[in-house]
Amino acid sequence: MKIIHSIKQTREFIRQSRKKGASIVFVPTMGALHEGHLSLLARARQLAGPRGIVAASIFVNPTQFNDPKDLAKYPRTLSADAVLCRRAGADLIFAPSANEMYASDFSTWVNEGFLSLPLCGASRPGHFRGVCTVVLKLFNIVQPDIAIFGQKDAQQAMVIQRMTRDLNCPVRIVIAPTVREKDGLAMSSRNRRLSSKQRTEAVFLNRALQSANDAFRAGIRSSAELIRNAKTVLRQASHMRPDYLELVSSTTLRPVKKASKGDLLVAAVFLGSVRLIDNRRID
Ligand code: PAF
Repeated sequence: MKIIHSIKQTREFIRQSRKKGASIVFVPTMGALHEGHLSLLARARQLAGPRGIVAASIFVNPTQFNDPKDLAKYPRTLSADAVLCRRAGADLIFAPSANEMYASDFSTWVNEGFLSLPLCGASRPGHFRGVCTVVLKLFNIVQPDIAIFGQKDAQQAMVIQRMTRDLNCPVRIVIAPTVREKDGLAMSSRNRRLSSKQRTEAVFLNRALQSANDAFRAGIRSSAELIRNAKTVLRQASHMRPDYLELVSSTTLRPVKKASKGDLLVAAVFLGSVRLIDNRRID
């Protein structure tokens, strides 16, 4: 496995691999890898086959952080990440610096203008502009046949799918299921910033979504009632501050009044300064 910091050398690595007929499967990350990322890498290995290339990127993208404190505190663990990537069968880690990725007079942005507006787009202004811009740049550098994203960031996955379609990026997007801790908490690099007390309370995020889904299974269809149900569960975590909790269409991400199978329950909460998100398809 190679760790490459420069764009030029990454392009060369990809060119040589393509010359040998290898397909490229790409897992973009911001590092601080956990089981969730490992499942994306395992899927990548499977899709690439024995002769294909699995490329991961590790880049804490400054342009997608609307809060400078969040950016400063984001865990950076490149050497541990490299061990995990190697073990997961990756062939390449592209780990550029911010200067390598962004010229000092950088001035071109990618704005998805519909799916990125509500939810995290509303509470984190500029976030998806940063995500779309960096992902398109990464696609242009790594030139993957397939790129894999996690369902945990459901809105991000949909925004990237839309961008890929709208801008004709020659890449197939694969969305992999959320990986959870034993108690149901969705794996996230931010989990490691939780104190033990906050970690105990974090479990209520998934429990709230589960509880609303149980209510749906019991026959409740009113979105307001399902959301009320979930919020009651969230309130059991006394230090948790909800950012949003909504029931939205899985195609438009806009709120629905009456729930039906396939709709998405989406939530974001704060525990101290740590912001966690999760989602669940109603079934
Ligand atoms: O999901 C992430 O880790 C990031 O948003 C991504 C897709 C790597 C872009 O920086």
